[in-house]
Amino acid sequence: MHIETLRWEGDRPGHVQMVEQTLLPLEHVEIAVRTVPEMVDAIYRLAVRGAPAIGVSAAYGVLLGIQEDAGMEAGALVAKVGEVCDTLAAARPTAVNLFWALNRMRAKAEKDHAGGANGEGIVSGLFEEAHAIFHGDRDTCRRMGEIGAELIHDGDTLLTHCNAGALATAGMGTALAPMYVAKEQGKTIHVFADETRPLLQGARITAFELMHAGIDVTLITDGMAARVMFEGKVDAVFVGSDRIARNGDVCNKIGTYSVALAAQAHDVPFYVVAPLSTVDPSLDSGDLIPIEERAPEEITEGFGKRTAPEGVKVYSPAFDITPARLITGIITEVGLIEQPTMAKMEDALRRGGVDLSGIETA
Ligand code: MRU
Repeated sequence: MHIETLRWEGDRPGHVQMVEQTLLPLEHVEIAVRTVPEMVDAIYRLAVRGAPAIGVSAAYGVLLGIQEDAGMEAGALVAKVGEVCDTLAAARPTAVNLFWALNRMRAKAEKDHAGGANGEGIVSGLFEEAHAIFHGDRDTCRRMGEIGAELIHDGDTLLTHCNAGALATAGMGTALAPMYVAKEQGKTIHVFADETRPLLQGARITAFELMHAGIDVTLITDGMAARVMFEGKVDAVFVGSDRIARNGDVCNKIGTYSVALAAQAHDVPFYVVAPLSTVDPSLDSGDLIPIEERAPEEITEGFGKRTAPEGVKVYSPAFDITPARLITGIITEVGLIEQPTMAKMEDALRRGGVDLSGIETA
């Protein structure tokens, strides 16, 4: 059984219960999130993090903003849904699942309004949509896990960066899902987890999650990834993503690009596991992906201890781009995209039912 990252608690009115991930691994506790500002804060603080989990949280955040407004005039309610979506969209800039989920919620309200729904109809439609996003994420994770597990052999040692596990989704994770399915299939696997500077999602969250699941995990610092590959200890790399451009360039946690370069240098297959909701069809290159910059204190005094001189200059991009040419394959819910190109990405998007009209395709 995987750790449950978040859930909607109660019916209407209800609230969100989520694991407070900033306290892991020392404390495994849940917090209640009851308002839109609380949800924005939870996303910004990384109480909930990981692209798919951010998307699901945003969808539930919309419910927090409108659940008491069923008596409102329908047009005014749709306008309020738009405002709530704009507020939630400002929480973090890079993970496209946030905007994907908000666009679904906005579109649902508009469609129901256009279809003649009153305030009550729009609110109940939004509840259905948010729960569909939650359950869709769970199903997608499992599907990616099944596809990815075919690439894992009994006895393999895998390497992962950041946390793209259950705690980054509503389900069993993205990059870690193939590992969980491989374990279910009786394969024995070992995992190197990069620590993932500066916020240590690998040390705090991935190591915790894999140990909890009974998977053999060894923690290394980010700088050791190339070394363990040089030593011939890694059979494949599995990472998640926050946004994938239409040409297959992958944005993920800072340090992923270095892992991909090291993997190429040592002939280690480099796989990205991500749902189609992480693909941004509007961007034809990774260069166009907005990269979040985090506060300098996360580096100079992370976890409350100053480790750099007072006044030092700091640059802190939270994500980087791995070019498509370094990627062996992208595992999505519609299958494995080997050596991704724009044409292959567009084909997968079409198979996943994504509307590419209005986009100048390859
Ligand atoms: O800053 P975070 O912790 O939200 O970054 C998370 C990552 O980079 C994950 O690898 C990515 O979101 C994929 S999660 C399934």
